[in-house]
Amino acid sequence: MRATSSASWTLGRILGSLFALATAVLVQRAIKPKQPYYWSNLRNMHRPLHFHGEHIRNNFFEGWYYKFTNNESTHTMAVIAGVYHPPHHPGHAAQQNHTHAFVMVLGLDAPSPSAYYRFPRKDFVDLGDRTPGHESAFKVRIGNSVFAHDELIIDLPASHYDRISEQELAAFYDTASQQYLQQFQSSKESQLRPLTVVYFRGLFPNRQELAHQDQEAFSIKAHFQFPASAQTPLPTSLLLPSIMGATAYLPFLECIHGVASLHHPIQRGHIATFSANDNILSESFYDGGVGYLEKDWGINFPSIWIWAQTNVFKTAPGSSMLFSLASIPVLGPDFSDWVKRHLPFASGLTEWPGMLLVYYHAPSKTLYNFSSYVPTAKLRSVKVSLDIDKGTQTVHFKATTRDHNWSEIALEANITRTIGGGTPLRTPSRSKRRMVIGVEETTTAQTTVKLWRVGSGEILVKDEGLGGGLEVEGNVKWLEDHINGA
Ligand SMILES: *[C@@H]1O[C@H](CO)[C@@H](O)[C@H](O)[C@H]1NC(C)=O
Ligand SMILES: *[C@@H]1O[C@H](CO)[C@@H](O)[C@H](O)[C@H]1NC(C)=O
Ligand SMILES: *[C@@H]1O[C@H](CO)[C@@H](O)[C@H](O)[C@H]1NC(C)=O
Ligand SMILES: *[C@@H]1O[C@H](CO)[C@@H](O)[C@H](O)[C@H]1NC(C)=O
Ligand SMILES: *[C@@H]1O[C@H](CO)[C@@H](O)[C@H](O)[C@H]1NC(C)=O
Repeated sequence: MRATSSASWTLGRILGSLFALATAVLVQRAIKPKQPYYWSNLRNMHRPLHFHGEHIRNNFFEGWYYKFTNNESTHTMAVIAGVYHPPHHPGHAAQQNHTHAFVMVLGLDAPSPSAYYRFPRKDFVDLGDRTPGHESAFKVRIGNSVFAHDELIIDLPASHYDRISEQELAAFYDTASQQYLQQFQSSKESQLRPLTVVYFRGLFPNRQELAHQDQEAFSIKAHFQFPASAQTPLPTSLLLPSIMGATAYLPFLECIHGVASLHHPIQRGHIATFSANDNILSESFYDGGVGYLEKDWGINFPSIWIWAQTNVFKTAPGSSMLFSLASIPVLGPDFSDWVKRHLPFASGLTEWPGMLLVYYHAPSKTLYNFSSYVPTAKLRSVKVSLDIDKGTQTVHFKATTRDHNWSEIALEANITRTIGGGTPLRTPSRSKRRMVIGVEETTTAQTTVKLWRVGSGEILVKDEGLGGGLEVEGNVKWLEDHINGA
């Protein structure tokens, strides 16, 4: 009797050990391709702005986002520079290699509001200084252009101009109209006014118009300077190394943000476009304007997100707000995929809404942090609504947090833009394994904010912002249901 139970106990132990070993091997196999990504995130945790992709050759994107508003707040433009590596797919060995470096420019005056320049990956060179004390200084070169934390020297030749095909645009406009319809259908107005997708598709250029928009390649030259001494970086600490807070310690996250400067004056800003035979097509000045600088990197863009950024406020100049709400595969996208495939009933547990939200009030030099990782903060409501008569879309949210004195603070904002008025922007596409038009980005949204003490009702800020960045992508009803239903 005793001998049998001891034998089965031994057998159980052996089986248990084999099971643990098999699991370890499987997990190792699953995460191995991502190891360079995890190591990079850990190694660079306290240098969020530096290039992370040094040793990563697979399933990775990284992009620096520079936003500029001119001195009279009449023009806002953005420059996005980065690298893209598609996910490796053994079944598609013959597939075109979509690895490349890129520079996107939006908010141009002429000859087209935006442009995409493509470079071989080897033309991307990291010039960053990694010695201690230079955590917020970065510099990369793409072709003849240089992107640094305090300067931009742009020289984008027409030979690298990448024309976006009418098919790529049309496919995006079809998806975007579906999403607008979905947002409209969750409003009361939809019961009185039965609109179909045709209505929303009609707000974008149709296929015939797209076929005639045969854009000639053009070149861009620009120079911007925004000294580091006048920038507004986020305070950092060992525990909260970046805007990601303590979640910066999770190296497997799908998409990670870094904020270099919430607001800075532009000392010098000049951009010009030229035709293939070097005739000047447009010229704009941003001297004395306002800039913003952030970086995103990771495996994919989230499947659903709302991103908004405003730093040109009327009453309290120098202030800045960043709102980024997304569906987060909390243990990384690989784990979510595995659960979706093998344990579909549990897949609701692997995706949560996650938010970064900070409002910096310049006159009092106070940073209010409402992000999900702040234990005392909470997003109370979020709603995306359409006003068909005005032709606008509004993102509304309300969140609360506590200040240093434990007093509860509420922030409410409305961010409004013209439906279909944004620029179609290329994003890394998970399903298509390449950079493809994936979101409409606006840089002219109008923002209203109100910040107050919940206890006394004392209003701390009531302000209006111009030149706001706004992106709304995917099934935002999922976000609304998770947040408003809770
Ligand atoms: C803004 O800049 C333009 C030229 O860049 C200049 O003519 C104008 O006076 C400036 N306006 C203000 C309000 O500084
Ligand atoms: C893709 O191109 C890059 C260079 O741009 C090269 O380093 C890499 O090995 C290529 N990958 C494949 C799978 O061909
Ligand atoms: C909020 O975020 C900022 C910027 O990363 C950080 O400095 C601050 O400590 C955070 N606050 C809390 C309470 O986590
Ligand atoms: C917090 O409390 C300190 C000391 O009581 C006070 O000086 C400060 O003004 C308070 N801050 C705010 C934002 O109320
Ligand atoms: C946002 O819009 C709602 C609905 O129009 C309004 O009740 C609220 O006061 C607005 N809030 C701000 C901060 O503008």
